[in-house]
Amino acid sequence: MILKDKKIVLGVTGAISAYKALELARLLVKQEASVRPVMTRSAIEFITPLSLSTLAGNPVYTDLFEPAGNGAIGHIELAQRSDLIMIAPATANFIGKVASGIADDLLTTVISAASAPVLIAPSMNTKMWENPITRANVERLKKLGYLFAGPEEGPLACGYEGVGRLAAVDVILDAAQEALSPRDLAGEKVLVTAGPTREAIDPVRFVSNASSGKMGYALAKAARRRGAEVVLISGPSYLPRPSGIAFVPVTSAEEMHEACVRYYPQSTLVIMSAAVADYRPKKSYPAKVKKDAVELTIEMVRTNDVLKYMGRKKKDHFLVGFALETEDLEENARKKLIDKNLDLVVGNTPAGLDSESNQVTIITRDNTIEVLPPLGKDEVADRILDKVARLKE
Ligand SMILES: Cc1cc2nc3c(=O)[nH]c(=O)nc-3n(C[C@H](O)[C@H](O)[C@H](O)COP(=O)(O)O)c2cc1C
Repeated sequence: MILKDKKIVLGVTGAISAYKALELARLLVKQEASVRPVMTRSAIEFITPLSLSTLAGNPVYTDLFEPAGNGAIGHIELAQRSDLIMIAPATANFIGKVASGIADDLLTTVISAASAPVLIAPSMNTKMWENPITRANVERLKKLGYLFAGPEEGPLACGYEGVGRLAAVDVILDAAQEALSPRDLAGEKVLVTAGPTREAIDPVRFVSNASSGKMGYALAKAARRRGAEVVLISGPSYLPRPSGIAFVPVTSAEEMHEACVRYYPQSTLVIMSAAVADYRPKKSYPAKVKKDAVELTIEMVRTNDVLKYMGRKKKDHFLVGFALETEDLEENARKKLIDKNLDLVVGNTPAGLDSESNQVTIITRDNTIEVLPPLGKDEVADRILDKVARLKE
């Protein structure tokens, strides 16, 4: 929960996508951030301050000249007491004003007085986005360290199709988390495996398991937010591909093994969270098996143990494995750590499979044991990476 207790100014400007700021405010509050909304005069033409203040759980600020009380100066107070300033959506006009140092309303004045990071999510017609003046303004702001999320390509409210659409709300949220994350994995090349594998019986049937990929995807995203270059090797999963991450889709344990062997040498940190099948059918039928026989026996053979391979070939790598156990979690996880030559093992139970949360036990090579309470998988990912970053220091 990187955003927990963070003071965030959510600036909303006069774009047609202003209604999406309501959902953003709701999600920020869900992450336990303290949201202080600021709207431009134009934004009020699109959504009401009442809706935004209700979802943000705080009053909406709109007026530069409204006294803040206690003799405080409102815009300085907002600017200085914030951990992050987000503008979503940001109009072409607003971007132009900030790039030119104009401070003629509350939102632009807050930004001119801020020392917190500023994250801008532009939203406008394609022609406005492609306008050389907008391009120059965006480039100038990027050079000055302003952060951007989007815009994306797609159909626009004005009937055009192209770049200019407000980034998806979860992409903006991810960028906010990145802005506030420690950069303690900068320079690391991280390899993460995620999801189940599928071992074919015939062209339409397979043997698999209940892994959803959520834990691995959360780890990959958290590592990227913390500055790492990330490769995610994923078995079949319905999760959206995370942005800013090299994505390698695989299906079977054999494909997973091949991809891991390919990316292992150039990795510095490897996190093997995929639920790779231990056994596969000895024979995969070329055509669909008919239900003629009353009983069908499928002979299974062992798959390659990729983690063992990595442990054997380990040089400067930091190797993290997951141990899913139904009994004697600590003992079995520790055994896996030794057998596979891991640096750290994360023990968990089937309750974490295909679930939003996970309860894990982190065991290190020097035998420290940390039993975490049940937490959302994003939070678990950050707690594991906190430990890895400390050990790698
Ligand atoms: C219906 C309507 C939709 C608009 N949508 C956008 C938009 O998506 N992006 C944008 O940059 N400007 C848009 N504008 C223009 C801005 O509202 C206008 O430039 C305004 O001055 C912006 O003020 P602000 O930046 O202070 O909020 C729109 C205007 C209207 C009337």
